[in-house]
Amino acid sequence: MSEQTLYDPRDRRLPIVAPPCGLVIFGVTGDLARKKLIPAIYDLANRGMLHPAFALTGFARRDWDIQTFQNFVREAIEKHARTDFNERTWKTLAQGIRFVGGTFDDAEAYQKLRQTVQELDKNRGTGGNHAFYLSVPPKYFGLVCTHLAQTGLTKKEPGQFRRVIIEKPFGHDLQSAKELAVQLRSIVDEEDIFRIDHYLGKETVQNILATRFANTMFEPIWNANYVDHVQITMAEDIGIGSRAGYYDGIGAARDVMQNHLLQLLALTAMEEPSTFDPEELRVEKEKILAAVRLPKDLAASTSRGQYEGGWQGGTKVSGYLEEDNIPSDSVTDTFAAITLNIANRRWAGVPFYLRTGKRLGKRVTEIAVVFKRAAHMPFDNASTSQLSQNALVIRVQPDEGMTIRFGAKVPGAGMQVRDVTMDFGYGHAFTEDSPEAYEKLIKDALTGDAPLFPHQREVELSWQILDPILQFWTENGKPDLYRPGTWGPQSAHDMLARSRRAWRIP
Ligand code: BG6
Repeated sequence: MSEQTLYDPRDRRLPIVAPPCGLVIFGVTGDLARKKLIPAIYDLANRGMLHPAFALTGFARRDWDIQTFQNFVREAIEKHARTDFNERTWKTLAQGIRFVGGTFDDAEAYQKLRQTVQELDKNRGTGGNHAFYLSVPPKYFGLVCTHLAQTGLTKKEPGQFRRVIIEKPFGHDLQSAKELAVQLRSIVDEEDIFRIDHYLGKETVQNILATRFANTMFEPIWNANYVDHVQITMAEDIGIGSRAGYYDGIGAARDVMQNHLLQLLALTAMEEPSTFDPEELRVEKEKILAAVRLPKDLAASTSRGQYEGGWQGGTKVSGYLEEDNIPSDSVTDTFAAITLNIANRRWAGVPFYLRTGKRLGKRVTEIAVVFKRAAHMPFDNASTSQLSQNALVIRVQPDEGMTIRFGAKVPGAGMQVRDVTMDFGYGHAFTEDSPEAYEKLIKDALTGDAPLFPHQREVELSWQILDPILQFWTENGKPDLYRPGTWGPQSAHDMLARSRRAWRIP
């Protein structure tokens, strides 16, 4: 076998180790960095996915020295990492840790950052490759990028990379998303911008493509001839916690529907790309997002809610309006449900129902493809009274796997048919734990592997879908109230009942 065959870079089974490089995290003292990013970096290092010449620089408004920052990083790892603490991994990682204190508009701090990056290139061997992770509120994206560019930090020599990684929300509507893109592109090239939608880093989300396109048994029935409707649910049992500053005025639809849920819809509904080349994958997702149509009657086909105070799982919980730092007249949605249609032959007449909310019955994300009833059944009605519609449920989290629901004969003399399920669970089928979404996405950003990062075009198409709904809601009253621990306001149930359907209770 030739060497080329052995080391084919397109072979996606091979674990690709990130090249020598530095990662600078802005907003490194925030929750996301502490609970997700730093632990993911450590887990990658522990799994041998980072080059020994990897460096981590924190940038934040603190007067910290390297030792204090190292302690902070170590604590975050010990508390939140997925893999065990290993002194050797930690020692190697710790040697590449740096800290720069300053505000986002402090030109001098960026000069210090530049010196730090140069020092790392010289002493750590990061080779002029640097990624800047903006774990900061979006209003600072432009400011940070401008300073990075002015300090020459985004300038690279041939063979090196300089990348900017940003977190949603990418704007708060179509217009602002476009403005943000213009601003970013005036400073860094589009191909150097990596937009994070952490749902795309989840194993179970990537498995949607494997399920659909690596098998023969699903795709023939994955269309309007067999599918009655699709339900995409992302439910959380927590409230907004201490995130009032971020959440109020944004709400459930902007927070997760514009990105996570519409990405799930795109992966579920798209046509098969001929390869997993990032551009081909994106084109197929974009075609679906562009084919989405809203029903005419938005009052009947959408629902928004806000949680009241009450009891959840034996605990007394505050209503949204009583949460810290929430104005008592806020009309922010903590629950959103919408109906979408897709104008193509595969999906004509098949509604896609999307719902998400805080303080719902339990934490669960799933995609349920619900099939039509058989056109004719040679049984009397009583025999099938306990038979519902066939369904394939992709369980994204927390109980990762897939369930197929179908009818089977109840043992006995009569012919009674009722629902049974067939299950695939990650825990049973695989011995290895799934990596955290941020492990996958940070490694992909450092290796420059782009398929899992949404392009600006997808961002804009998603806002195009959501904007009319958000505008309709703004012009029409307040969200409906719902009790904690339930599955949202009555209007969400009515939305499906109008077409004689019901939400699944996951
Ligand atoms: C984030 C939202 O994108 O996703 C949060 O901003 C939400 O509001 C979180 O809680 C949920 O992520 P996960 O991975 O726990 O489903």
